Amino acid sequence: MPTTNSELSQELINHIRTSVDIVEIISDYIPLTKKGKNYFGVCPFHSDHSPSMSVSQERQIYKCFSCGAAGNVFKFLIDYENISFKEALKKIADKAGIAISLNISTPKGNKDYQKLYEIFQTSQLFYQNNINTKEGKKAKNYLQSRNINSSIISEFEIGLALKNNTMLSKILQKKGYQESDLIKTGLVNKNSLTINDVYYNRIMFPLWDLTGHIVGYSGRVYDTSDTSKYINTKETEIFKKGELLYHYHKAKDEARKQGKIVIVEGFMDVIRCSSIGIKNVVATMGTAITPKQALLMKRLGKEILLCFDGDEAGAKATMSCIDELSKIGITPKVIRLEENLDPDEYIQKYGEAKFRLKLDSPINIMDFKLSYLKRGKNLKDNIEVSKYLNNMIEEINKIDDPILQELTLNKLSEEYHIDIQILKDQIKKPEKKTEMKKEKSKEKSTKYIKAERNLLYYMLEHEKVLQIYKKNVVFLPTERYRKLAREIDYFYKKNEFIKLADIMTFVSENETLTNTINEILSLNLKEEYTKEEIEDYINTIREFNLKTEEDRLKKQIQEEINPIKKAKLAQRIVEIKNMR
Ligand code: UTP
Ligand code: MN
Repeated sequence: MPTTNSELSQELINHIRTSVDIVEIISDYIPLTKKGKNYFGVCPFHSDHSPSMSVSQERQIYKCFSCGAAGNVFKFLIDYENISFKEALKKIADKAGIAISLNISTPKGNKDYQKLYEIFQTSQLFYQNNINTKEGKKAKNYLQSRNINSSIISEFEIGLALKNNTMLSKILQKKGYQESDLIKTGLVNKNSLTINDVYYNRIMFPLWDLTGHIVGYSGRVYDTSDTSKYINTKETEIFKKGELLYHYHKAKDEARKQGKIVIVEGFMDVIRCSSIGIKNVVATMGTAITPKQALLMKRLGKEILLCFDGDEAGAKATMSCIDELSKIGITPKVIRLEENLDPDEYIQKYGEAKFRLKLDSPINIMDFKLSYLKRGKNLKDNIEVSKYLNNMIEEINKIDDPILQELTLNKLSEEYHIDIQILKDQIKKPEKKTEMKKEKSKEKSTKYIKAERNLLYYMLEHEKVLQIYKKNVVFLPTERYRKLAREIDYFYKKNEFIKLADIMTFVSENETLTNTINEILSLNLKEEYTKEEIEDYINTIREFNLKTEEDRLKKQIQEEINPIKKAKLAQRIVEIKNMR
């Protein structure tokens, strides 16, 4: 039986949930507008453009018509913030002013990976310790020369891999870790005979996953002229560079508080920003931004500021990041730094105040594109002007915002003395948005499966329906539906009421049950039900059960040779026929 939390009673958990309004909580993360009885917003759990997520104040649940995500206020926080149930509970309790004491020591994480996290913790202790030893002097001097003082070193848990390339391997082996697990972390290598450390003689910057486990490193050269400036841990089960953003777990609270997140390329830029008190910063770590990372950015704040390196590569990265974000309906703002500087260099050269000024005056994406696409073109030549205008038309066609489109067209028309109509003629009319994918997979379901689902749909919200179901002692043929029905009943026995939002918490540790509830909710049936409808569903299910039993007996009778048993089976079949 899933108990969501052994430290706290179900009652208290329900009380915490009822003390807040899901509409208010979700509004802190995404803008909601009221339409009829419900509130609607752009779903943060898939690449959504139009508001497909509905939030019901009455039922205290949210539900996305498009991707099927659904849940109560806890589930929203768990998925949105990548936190554990306990952490979500704590957050809501804090909001509601309810004091609870919870032991939130271990961040959410897959139990299968516990070993790997542990190995990283051990390595981390080793690396961090090294930097304070005699052998670490040179590394510390290097950091100092870059204005990275001890407090930054400890905040960002910067460490050092020593020159010897077997020390960590030995420590880890001594601790009893299996070789296969060590190799899985990407921290050790195996050649024919020995196992060696991947990192040696490098300054170690830990990389965290979204919940704050160390899952990799970026090791920087500091006293040799090694060809690769940084060596990153290879992709592993727990370290997928394209699925995380550097500093995410530390930046998210501040970002949400300010409604603003700054995106930079390098983790040194994050470290520098943070050292001057700008904490709402994450880094892409120099890779092309992936759709997953775009979704993460979207979750961090309403305003996204792209502050990439001032050089050509940074401008290019800005272009592609804009495109990836606009695919999910986000329009970021852009900051460009002069003299090819990156944020770290800019802050060191011009100081905190000037950098903050930069952050406070971002340019819009179209103005950025207007100037970016000009580079390398001779705009005194009409051929190049035409090329440029065509490039810009392409960009204008990519955006969703008709007003920004118009404003940009006006600028072009004025600057190049082109009749605006000529430009406008090349703008695509927005396609009529296809209707929300109602009943997205209209999979053929048999009559009895439909009856099971419909019955559960109402059982999840009405005590009366549960009672009709119980009185009729009907057996649900589909296993996952049967299990859900049992769970609803069990919830009722413990709580003496039916409330969908609380049932969701009740089953939250069981993925199958949770998915089954989401599946049932996606039916979107009408609110009202009649007793006759419920009885109809039950009869359909019962009819199916009898038919199944009859078929089974018929098969048995064919195989039976004992005449007495055969007669008994025949009689049973008649009885069943009479029941139908
Ligand atoms: P940068 O070259 O802009 O790094 O690469 P940086 O922040 O300015 O670093 P410093 O100031 O020279 O120390 C941006 C990001 O690209 C990745 C790193 O994650 C870095 O933060 N990168 C860069 C690598 O992975 N390997 C490299 O060799 C270089
Ligand atoms: Mn730099």
